[in-house]
Amino acid sequence: MKSMFELDVPVPSKRSLIVRNIKEVSKEQREIALKKTEYSMFSFPADMLVLDFLSDSGSSSMTDLQWASLFHGDESYGRNKGYYVLLDAIRDTFERGDKPKKVINLILSGETNVKTLMDELYLKAFKGGFVNGGVHQLARPNAFIVPQGRCAEHLLFSTIASILKENNPNKEYYIPNNGHFDTTEANITANGIIPINLFSVNLFEDFPSDQMDVKNPFKGNMDSEELKAFIQNKGVESIPLIYLTITNNTAAGQPVSLKNIKEISEIARSCNIPLFFDACRFAENAYFIKKFEEGYNNYSILKIVQEMFSQVDGFTISFKKDGLANIGGGLFFRDKGIFYKKFSTNGNIGTKLKEKQILTFGNDSYGGLSGRDIMALAVGLYEVVKEPYLAERIRQVREFARKLANNGVPIVLPAGGHAVYINVEEFFKGTAMEIDDFGGVGFTIELLKHYGIRACELGPFAFEWDKKTPEQRKGILNLVRFAVPRNVYDTSHIDYAVAAITELHRNRDKIPKVKVSRGINLRLRHFQSGLLPIYTNEN
Ligand code: F0G
Repeated sequence: MKSMFELDVPVPSKRSLIVRNIKEVSKEQREIALKKTEYSMFSFPADMLVLDFLSDSGSSSMTDLQWASLFHGDESYGRNKGYYVLLDAIRDTFERGDKPKKVINLILSGETNVKTLMDELYLKAFKGGFVNGGVHQLARPNAFIVPQGRCAEHLLFSTIASILKENNPNKEYYIPNNGHFDTTEANITANGIIPINLFSVNLFEDFPSDQMDVKNPFKGNMDSEELKAFIQNKGVESIPLIYLTITNNTAAGQPVSLKNIKEISEIARSCNIPLFFDACRFAENAYFIKKFEEGYNNYSILKIVQEMFSQVDGFTISFKKDGLANIGGGLFFRDKGIFYKKFSTNGNIGTKLKEKQILTFGNDSYGGLSGRDIMALAVGLYEVVKEPYLAERIRQVREFARKLANNGVPIVLPAGGHAVYINVEEFFKGTAMEIDDFGGVGFTIELLKHYGIRACELGPFAFEWDKKTPEQRKGILNLVRFAVPRNVYDTSHIDYAVAAITELHRNRDKIPKVKVSRGINLRLRHFQSGLLPIYTNEN
């Protein structure tokens, strides 16, 4: 029972200061554009959309503090000042818990005491964590800034694959994950390593939508029993790394519990295998832990993040997620940790990574980013761990899911942190749609055509069902994702989307099957192939 003066609606966490008007586009104009872009969601002009749920990556609004920080951007070719600020913001975020130093304020406040700047920022030595500094960062580099997450993946997997092959050219290697993202999977495969998904067994268990505010089953977890069996079966030497993706984007954006993180960490440590996070959306994952995992309710987000990262030996990250920035990525590993020792047998792994970083993305102090991007990202690291922001963010995704569930649309429940996922198999139950008819793709085409809303299939088309063995097919879920950009949409947008999706669900027997008309064998084909919906008399 609520007491007098108490409200049962949440307190808003922000107000908007800038507006972009949406163009009026007719269904006929969208049909022409669809035809001319081969029905590919990735090729449709964004400016012709009403709502865009293609990705939450790089599509979020920046805060006023981030916009203000752009003026501090330093475009110097060597050691721009934002580089130092960013490295320390990373230490603050992932290592210092409730005791961030915020040396960023020296720059934002225009500190002129040069000795202070030298002592606190430019020449300060650090070692032993994820971000060496000063002389240690030159001798044993362990932090690498790159333009986005997949660049970090490429940097990591191409470098370790060549080391592994040098040592043993004919051996098969595997990287288990609670759910590899598509670019992660492709980067691993492209380097001759085999990606393995060990989804949580409860992923498709029913969950009542009215329980979403009170509990969460952490369906993003890795199946630890499967992991142990897998290590036993393939042997420790076959597994160069274990990965945990937080939140688990491929498994419907579900969070991973700290209990599971600790369990997997324990297994990895006992086998001397480095454990890495794919840390995209770490802040949203931390919020789920705070709200729903026993024992963490009184922890700050930063303290939870610190505890999460204390369990791993390194991480790759796309800074385009979690509302951090519109661009950026990174690779970090623990100074002299398991990864460092394992891969530094024929020379320092950090030096090898740095060489490749410079060859491909840019010098170590900007990594392919502008000085302005670096400042916005450094400020963003402090913005996204603010609890009122996270609460409102997760609440919006949850409301989107609840409204769809109430209208009878089958979605994965509870809602994850960044997106709502339609369970495509359930969606088409009772119709003639088979898994290789790519019904999820047909749905996205119709949604765009009728309502100007863009979403994305992450299922048999994206994950190449037709090219996989029965064993590999077990790792493919059949979903359509609505990824919600941060600080962009309000209730009116969500309500429009819910109404449109519900109407299509009502008419699901009219949704066309889809054929790949061009490029069926291209790698990551959902970004680049052509599609054709097969309309019949019935639709
Ligand atoms: N890992 C995960 C879990 C991701 O979700 C993504 C990107 C990446 C790695 C790669 O990062 O895009 O910066 O190169 N996900 C976006 C998405 C594209 O829409 O889910 P990136």
